[in-house]
Amino acid sequence: MEKDMASAAASAHIPSTPTLCAAAKPPMQMHSEHPERKRVLFVTSEFADLIKCGGLGDVSAALPRALSPQHDMRLLIPGYRKVVESGRPIRIVGQLPGVAALPPCQIGRMDLADGLIVYVLLNHALYERDGSPYVDAQGRDWADNHIRFARLGLAAAEIASGDAGIQWRPELVHANDWPAAMAPAYMAWRQASAPAVLTIHNLAYQGLCDMRCASELAIPESACGVDGLEFYGQLSFLKAGIAYAQHVTTVSRRYAREITTPEQGCGLDGLLRAKVLGNQLSGIANGIDESWQPESDPHLLQGFSAGDWAGKRANTEYVQRWLNLDAEGPLFAVVSRLVQQKGIDLTLDVAEHIVARGGRIGVIGQGEPALEAAMADLGRRHPGRIGVHIGFNESDARRLYAGSDFLLMPSRFEPCGLSQMYAQRYASLPIARCTGGLADTIEDGVSGFLFDAPHVDAYREAIDRALQVFEHPELLEAMRCHAMRSPLYWRQSVQPYDRLFQRLLGQVNARRALR
Ligand code: ADP
Ligand code: GLC
Repeated sequence: MEKDMASAAASAHIPSTPTLCAAAKPPMQMHSEHPERKRVLFVTSEFADLIKCGGLGDVSAALPRALSPQHDMRLLIPGYRKVVESGRPIRIVGQLPGVAALPPCQIGRMDLADGLIVYVLLNHALYERDGSPYVDAQGRDWADNHIRFARLGLAAAEIASGDAGIQWRPELVHANDWPAAMAPAYMAWRQASAPAVLTIHNLAYQGLCDMRCASELAIPESACGVDGLEFYGQLSFLKAGIAYAQHVTTVSRRYAREITTPEQGCGLDGLLRAKVLGNQLSGIANGIDESWQPESDPHLLQGFSAGDWAGKRANTEYVQRWLNLDAEGPLFAVVSRLVQQKGIDLTLDVAEHIVARGGRIGVIGQGEPALEAAMADLGRRHPGRIGVHIGFNESDARRLYAGSDFLLMPSRFEPCGLSQMYAQRYASLPIARCTGGLADTIEDGVSGFLFDAPHVDAYREAIDRALQVFEHPELLEAMRCHAMRSPLYWRQSVQPYDRLFQRLLGQVNARRALR
């Protein structure tokens, strides 16, 4: 497996006693209350309530909730240590047998306070480890990631086929990114009648493993060719999901077009173009969740609203103290996984320019060790002007969005991006590359600043434009107010998923009627 996202927030509270308890019979809920209300299983490897490495965790916590008024949405996530030891009771409701090298598991059910039901795939040896979902404490991929996440996909298929004993059977499965992408394939091989949707949050992470693992993963030989899972001599989980899902979505319209080109298709553009021809690929933009309210966010030092900036200043003062920054100058923020995708090297190259122009930079993030070290070194070289926190916690991240004037996001590619929308909502103007979701959510010179070429000259020019605006308070105020109104909440952006689900289920019913 290729290296994946950086390790998760270290802030979750871990009580000493796990709260697994043996099966009490779950309420029988085979039928939805309303005919239009469909049963949907949302399969994901991150869930921000319990464990998050980046935007996938945020989306997994927000999108199913936003769809809950229309559908009976339930999650399936692996039982990582942080999940099992979260303090929330887990009731055992299902048993899954071993298949090839995929070990037997239990299914636990967690009922969250707001009514969301989360199925937890339990296997101590597979999932209960320190470190992030994808890598160990040293940042190395778990060697058995192919087993861990194939097991997740197979569990989804077993639930969809009614073979998990949990007395609830989804009518549609929504798999997310490569860790869940084997679900549509296992469903097809088990002839599950439910359609599967795959959402690609990031095409660059594909879940590759050695072709010789096929039999361990119970992948039929007939599926191992180039028309199936084979990707340049390896097995690709993401390719499996794309090939077998009835529909593929990605998280912005622009990225949906970009991934069909050789430049951004990561070798899968041909298959994705075929999906376009079959009307099976679409871009549905992410929204943000309701917790992003500058007036009332409990993480903030003080709330604020457009035109009333005293609260914003209180957050700036907090950031100054936290990162040992001088009090003067526009504050640029970096809130990011420190990985190649995010153009961190470009920010390293432009940082001296920002400091020379009187700016300050505050950084919170973690990721690739070399980029972490380079960022930390940058901070050491500019005491008072650049403050760097390697690590991640939600409160400080939110305070940095709120306390900064600008957010630096020079991503080389960006499927959607949530950080720029969080920054906009908190009146920090994003300076970003014109790519993917950044291009779709930022209006250049109106709600942020965009630049085209992934080079430091173009980036520097955009920063200079931002600094000019900073010198003109009335312009700055107008842009801030515009930015704060720009991002859409999930409730305003969830309808395309609803329409897609209804369409796919309509097709299934039409096929059944013809038989
Ligand atoms: P991506 O998913 O590619 O990291 P997004 O902009 O969609 O980018 O989402 C970023 C989300 O992850 C934001 O909520 C941000 O605050 C958070 N975040 C940024 N860096 C980290 C990190 N190192 N660990 C956990 N969460 C992070
Ligand atoms: C991925 C992408 C990011 C997107 C997020 C949630 O991690 O890198 O652009 O916003 O998923 O969909």
